[in-house]
Amino acid sequence: MAQTEGARASWSGKWAFILAAAASAVGLGNMWRFPYLAAKYGGGTFLLTYVLLVFTFGVSLLLLETALGRKTGQSAIGAFKAFGKKYAFIGVLASAVPFIITPYYCIIGGWVTKYTAAYLVDGPDALADGGDFFTGFITSNVESYIWMLLFMALVFIIVGLGVKGGIEKANLVMMPALIIMAVGIAIYTLTMPGALEGAAYYLTPDFSKLSPELFISALGQMFYSLSLAMGIMITYGSYMRKQDSLTSSVTRIGFFDLGVSFIAGLLIVSAAFVAVGSGDAVAAKAGPSLMFITLPNVFADMGGMATIMGFLFFLLVLFAALTSAISLTETLVSIVQDGMKCTRAKALGIVIAFVVIAGAVINAGYNGLSFIEPLGAGSSMLDFADFISNSVLMPIVALLTCIFVGWIIKPKVIVDEVKISSPFKLEKAWAVMIKFIAPVLVTVILVAYVAAQFGFFSM
Ligand code: PHE
Repeated sequence: MAQTEGARASWSGKWAFILAAAASAVGLGNMWRFPYLAAKYGGGTFLLTYVLLVFTFGVSLLLLETALGRKTGQSAIGAFKAFGKKYAFIGVLASAVPFIITPYYCIIGGWVTKYTAAYLVDGPDALADGGDFFTGFITSNVESYIWMLLFMALVFIIVGLGVKGGIEKANLVMMPALIIMAVGIAIYTLTMPGALEGAAYYLTPDFSKLSPELFISALGQMFYSLSLAMGIMITYGSYMRKQDSLTSSVTRIGFFDLGVSFIAGLLIVSAAFVAVGSGDAVAAKAGPSLMFITLPNVFADMGGMATIMGFLFFLLVLFAALTSAISLTETLVSIVQDGMKCTRAKALGIVIAFVVIAGAVINAGYNGLSFIEPLGAGSSMLDFADFISNSVLMPIVALLTCIFVGWIIKPKVIVDEVKISSPFKLEKAWAVMIKFIAPVLVTVILVAYVAAQFGFFSM
């Protein structure tokens, strides 16, 4: 264990923090959800909306959370409690989110691990069979669990090595590798016949697709992608030193996450375009099938490059998933450690037990327990966990956080914390954002997601 018994962890410097926050941000959300949303909502139109949201709303909330963490030196529950016992519930709600996300994130991580290995073991053609390979795998009673556990083991080992000895080192290797692979694969993909047409579709704004749904989807995606409203950024802020600038850190995190989403979208939309021939057809391949069924068809057609491209692509996604799962698990460890006042080692033990058991139960939703369809026919327990965390809890936590800072403790508390390490030119605009704009926007997403789920309109 890298930390001394019971002591709180800390980053070795500003760049370690930025890298860790970016590593948390860049994940499965960037790799398959962003590209699909961009394809669905008219390419450039979605990109523009998303950029606008990240640099107004997204960065403002990132700043709020990191400053709150640094000021109090606590993870989510303690951070809110520091201002009065009655506010601890906001932290409890925020902390519930990573407990729900981590187990199912590791299941998808297991799928990605399986695919990475399968390119080397079974070859690209075996994976390009129109979906039977994927369905057979996730419904298996043994194999799907083994790959989930393998992915979890990688995550637990790195978190077990501590913040400096494990997480920082892993990020330092995986994040640059991720960028290089993403750019390399994107360039190669664009040389395939038909791919440039896909790129044009992705980049050109189609303003006829501008709609409330586009806006709401972009907002929800931004939350998930920046790992907001679940206590992660509060925890990470609490490991920060007082001399490191918060404003420039959060702007860089926003850029980084956006950059990776942009490249992933370019790569995936162009590649999928090659396979299915039109933007609407790409958009129709929502969810897991785009990555696990459509893309393998594209790779299989790459001839001599098929194995290596497929392998590298899934390795890229694996790195993105791993760094996010590590950050989720680290947050859980920190919550348990602060909440139970125990050692880091004991907290990790508890977290491992929880994630393994919850993961196994949710994974059973695709095989042993597939008769449980919580959101209607064809839905899985994983869909349900995703819905509760992203569409219900996260907007509620974001709303409460904004009200708490904007109206109860007052923006000045955060502004003062920010100013310890850097000037804060946009302080007035930021306060307006937190007090007025953000609460309204968040209420809109919350109502819209829940209404969409119950069929009032479709998204
Ligand atoms: N932001 C990650 C992604 O885009 C997901 C994530 C959610 C990571 C919550 C950590 C916490 O995939």
